Amino acid sequence: MRTKVLVVGGGGREHAIVEALVRDGAEVYAAMRNRNPGIARAVKGFRLLNETDVPEVAEFASSTGAEIAVIGPEAPLEAGLVDELLRRGIGCVGPSQAAARLETSKRFARRLLKKHDIPGNVAFGTFQDYEAAKLFVDGFPGELVVKPEGLTGGKGVKVEGEHLRGKEEVLAYVREVLDNRIGGGGVVLEERLVGEEFTLQAFCDGRSVRGMPLVQDHKRAYEGDVGPNTGGMGSYTDADHLLPFVTAEDRERAMDIMRRTVQAMRAEGTPYRGVLYGQFMLTGAGPKVIEFNARFGDPEAMNVLTLLPNGLLDACLGVADGHLKGDVPFLRKATVCKYVVPAGYGTAPRAGMPVKVDEGALARTGARLYYAAVEERDGTIYTTTSRALGVVGMADSIEEAEAICEAGLANVAGDVLVRHDIGRAELVRKRVEHMRQVRG
Ligand code: AMP
Ligand code: GLY
Repeated sequence: MRTKVLVVGGGGREHAIVEALVRDGAEVYAAMRNRNPGIARAVKGFRLLNETDVPEVAEFASSTGAEIAVIGPEAPLEAGLVDELLRRGIGCVGPSQAAARLETSKRFARRLLKKHDIPGNVAFGTFQDYEAAKLFVDGFPGELVVKPEGLTGGKGVKVEGEHLRGKEEVLAYVREVLDNRIGGGGVVLEERLVGEEFTLQAFCDGRSVRGMPLVQDHKRAYEGDVGPNTGGMGSYTDADHLLPFVTAEDRERAMDIMRRTVQAMRAEGTPYRGVLYGQFMLTGAGPKVIEFNARFGDPEAMNVLTLLPNGLLDACLGVADGHLKGDVPFLRKATVCKYVVPAGYGTAPRAGMPVKVDEGALARTGARLYYAAVEERDGTIYTTTSRALGVVGMADSIEEAEAICEAGLANVAGDVLVRHDIGRAELVRKRVEHMRQVRG
């Protein structure tokens, strides 16, 4: 009997999840808002729906006979989808609404780290009213980061010295977040960290934690790390599962933070089952937590899942039943992922533009194609306002993986934007050099 799995979500991340589960022989169903053409082709069945409509997703899940569900995006977690699926006897890769607070409430996450004395935390304050926040800002010796407390799709955080000049602009943004209830109301102010960012994703079964290869994402829209912040323009991994500027010791410290966080969640009575995504800043004093996400990263999932010719289904079953077994067999290869996004992405994305994808020629380059938010009409792919598709190259080195990714991208044409610098030797060298300076 093939295991039946429901995947919720219709982006590049979910296309990669679906492909990996299909490779493992699972019978996969999809619940998604937009018809992702890659997912639609790969699954046994799908339903187009609002992913936060808990009763409808749950009813669809039951109708497919799914034994487990993998929740891609954060919004359904916040809406309580996992709690409802568990009530129906469907195991989940994704935390309960209470455990998802690690992502959905930045205040909860910071306070948990503090209460349990977990390393990697930063100086911070959480506020509901402007006057209290102003006292904190006036008394704070260094640069600050302003974060809406709740979800903003990765676009609500502003950093002093980057997006905000001086304490006056910090306070103006604090007021804007509070007055307009950006992210649901409430603001977190925290110490600005300096260093290089990396992502550590892990499978968690409530007790134990299995780390995945480290990934570096690129949030800025344009080449050279300039322009507005986005959901992520592309990402890479290295063959040793570290990054060129991260040592095995740095990774172990980040793993320790993740393990202690999962322990703390259990101690709080809200065990964490799902993929835990740790966003870290590697500073001169080691890795510090920027934030947690309660799911795979997008694009990071496309990197790590391309490295799993098999084994995702077993890991998911282990997460869902609380008993992860053995190691997850990630290939020891490097990957480079670049997102193709509509022109104007980050400010005024151009929806409804045709994108020509020669799938056959792309596949012959050895690159992988993962569709994201596109529309397909009469055999033509059109952009929406979100990221359109991801292309991943995999090889023994970042350099070779980047070349394969580019060879794949040569078969995609349209009014689109790609950060070609991601994974290139020049940018990787810049990161290594920056980290050398930061370490002093
Ligand atoms: P987040 O939505 O929390 O991932 O934040 C978005 C981006 O803001 C991160 O990827 C970082 O580049 C930056 N950021 C967040 N928190 C900090 C911090 N404490 N220090 C420096 N940069 C930060
Ligand atoms: N790549 C960032 C995220 O998935 O949140």
